[in-house]
Amino acid sequence: MRTPLIAGNWKMNTDSSSAAELAAAIVCRAGEVTDAELLVCPPTIYLTQVRDSIGDAAVSLGAQNMYHESGGAYTGETSVSMLNDIGAKYVILGHSERRHIMGESDEDVNKKTHAALQAGLRPIVCVGELLEQREAGQTTEVIRGQMEGSLADVTAEQISSVVIAYEPVWAIGTGKVATPEQAEEVHADLRKQLTERYNAEIADTVRILYGGSVKPDNAETLLGQPNIDGALIGGASLKADDFLAIAAAGAAVVQA
Ligand code: PGA
Repeated sequence: MRTPLIAGNWKMNTDSSSAAELAAAIVCRAGEVTDAELLVCPPTIYLTQVRDSIGDAAVSLGAQNMYHESGGAYTGETSVSMLNDIGAKYVILGHSERRHIMGESDEDVNKKTHAALQAGLRPIVCVGELLEQREAGQTTEVIRGQMEGSLADVTAEQISSVVIAYEPVWAIGTGKVATPEQAEEVHADLRKQLTERYNAEIADTVRILYGGSVKPDNAETLLGQPNIDGALIGGASLKADDFLAIAAAGAAVVQA
């Protein structure tokens, strides 16, 4: 069984004191969650502070983005070696806000994915369709295209270090969650794609997270789906109680 990954994407929220407080509140109860991996992804500027709040607690640290070049004249960007240096283990790549607001392409996400993998950082590669694409019956095609582009030339050895996150754009920050059936249908197709590209054994090792309005009251049914291996949580990750309740739901599924 794949250990669920419960990831909090704090986006452009918190300040130096509330970031440290939120991390401390999660850390102090992290020991209660034994069957799920906890991950927090604060804004880049607070990564070191949150790392210090985490100390040696069982909470992983991740970034929300990075640039694919290793260093040099790239004003405003963060390299993978900088993320490694401060102790990040994961990096979210191709989040829909980066794709749709900052204009990131599958090619950009692919370059970042390779840079992260080469440096030993685990990429969380996000895919997801817009509402109009879903309504036009294009969900599978859109997501297959994003997967092909974002994961081009990722080898069988590398793919087990990659986490995929399915985040329907219409469900992000809207309170409109995909039904467990809608989510599982896409997750099952993602697993099928991984099987086609690699093989069933390898596909079975890859964690596929669901993201989009995950809350404590819908977490258990979502995380109970056979191909949903965790959650990427925005709004609810800013409240330690909600984040930990979602993690507890993930752990309960493992124990069931
Ligand atoms: P949300 O965000 O939980 O606020 O919908 C999810 C995400 O963007 O990762």
